[in-house]
Amino acid sequence: MAIIEITFLSLSIILLLFLRSTYRRRATSLPTNWPVFGMLPGLLPNTHRIQDYITELTAESGGTFQWEGPIFSNMDMLMTSDPANIHHVFSRNFSNYPKGPEFNKIFQILGDGIFNADFDAWELHRRITHSFFTHTTFSSKLEKAVWDKVENGLLPVLDHSVDVDLQDIFQRLSFDTICKLVLEYDSCSLSVEMPNIPCEKAFNDMIDALLYRHLLPEVVWRLQEWMGVGREKKLQEASRAFDEFIYPCVERSMDESYGFSLLSSFKKEFQTDSSKFLRDTALNLMLAGRDTTGATLTWLFWLIACNPSSEEKIRREINGEEWRRRFGVEESRRLVYLHGALCETMRLYPPVALEHKAPVRADDLPCGKRIERNARVVISFYSVGRMESVWGKDCLEFKPERWISPSGKIKHEPSYKFPAFNAGPRTCLGKEMAFAQMKMVAAAILHRYRIKVVEGHVVSPRDSIILQMKNGLRVRLTKISN
Ligand code: HEM
Repeated sequence: MAIIEITFLSLSIILLLFLRSTYRRRATSLPTNWPVFGMLPGLLPNTHRIQDYITELTAESGGTFQWEGPIFSNMDMLMTSDPANIHHVFSRNFSNYPKGPEFNKIFQILGDGIFNADFDAWELHRRITHSFFTHTTFSSKLEKAVWDKVENGLLPVLDHSVDVDLQDIFQRLSFDTICKLVLEYDSCSLSVEMPNIPCEKAFNDMIDALLYRHLLPEVVWRLQEWMGVGREKKLQEASRAFDEFIYPCVERSMDESYGFSLLSSFKKEFQTDSSKFLRDTALNLMLAGRDTTGATLTWLFWLIACNPSSEEKIRREINGEEWRRRFGVEESRRLVYLHGALCETMRLYPPVALEHKAPVRADDLPCGKRIERNARVVISFYSVGRMESVWGKDCLEFKPERWISPSGKIKHEPSYKFPAFNAGPRTCLGKEMAFAQMKMVAAAILHRYRIKVVEGHVVSPRDSIILQMKNGLRVRLTKISN
């Protein structure tokens, strides 16, 4: 009898929960908070569209949503896309939101580089990196690295083909450029032979695995790591590929006759000869420089292919400049419409779509929500760019004009409203360099080719911590006779 009663009671509870979830699903897309499993059942069918899912949850909750994970999983998180919260977490109360131990665990592959660093170590990393990027010789180094790549890699590849995957091309281009700047070494991954450089491709495996570490309970990915299976296996292979590529470059930089370089500055300022530390430093900057610019250029070309009038305006602007075969960082600042198009691309598709933080002390966010010590806050940069309350009714449309003032100058938006380059003291150190590089590359292509996305090609974001395209971007090129 007791068994029948217990069975009946359990079935009733399941039925009640099911009816409740069905009713709620009809009224709202907010997930049910199930006993034991929390909101995980709602998340699992949405992992392939995680950015849009978070956008729906935050939009429906007025900008901030408390997500409950399964019990004992330590996966509860406050998701927010509210600019006031962003301003608070990244700038006004910055000292209370270090990267913290949770971030370090997930991004362990990046070791002691700048992304994992906090407090004094971070300040030193930032000072050295900043002084390298602002050194008097850096602009000309950058211009040379980019134009050499455009002339000896990009243009020969494009001249050689009709149908290409632009994402692959941009990833190779930005990988070669950042390697040249950080490691003083060019693997020529972008060349007509399109060689397979394991380190270059390993970045994709790394960024996929890192997203899953955010979504799965730690015990699950730790088990996969221990067993060496799934995405964790790929992450281990990626780490080996990085080591095989970076360590020989680090060894070369140890040579006294090597001269001034980023790695030699780090060696001197941190007073270290540790190859592991220099490997970590280089890997962090390679990640920063490869995927972000590669992803932005890819989304830009897709957006302008969908908006031919914008493509023509960019072309007019480039051709209107007294076109010289090469132009530099200074001249690239004059390309206002192209600048607007790049900002608009990153508003809709910020390469770093999510950030996560944990406060050292409990805190009250401007939205009124309380956040406990060490609790996880996930800040969706992707969602901020798609908020009607921030960007207006046309927030989903691609409009470079949004970024141009009535006097024809670039309009600056506060970083808490446009956080693609992060906000506050940890703002991206490569922003100027990224704009200059992306403008040189986009201009070099648009000056010579018309681009059409191959018919039937499906564009959708890939599940990873950097917003790439899942299937790449297959385009057809037609040469323009200038
Ligand atoms: C479209 C291009 C780029 C975008 C959208 C972008 C975006 C970002 C974002 C969101 C962060 C914060 C990451 C975090 O704290 O977790 C960041 C940090 C950083 N970025 Fe970029 N980035 C771009 C290009 C570059 C390039 C080309 C470099 C050059 C190597 C670079 C160097 C850095 C560095 C060193 C940091 C760390 C700053 C710190 O923690 O103090 N970025 N970037």
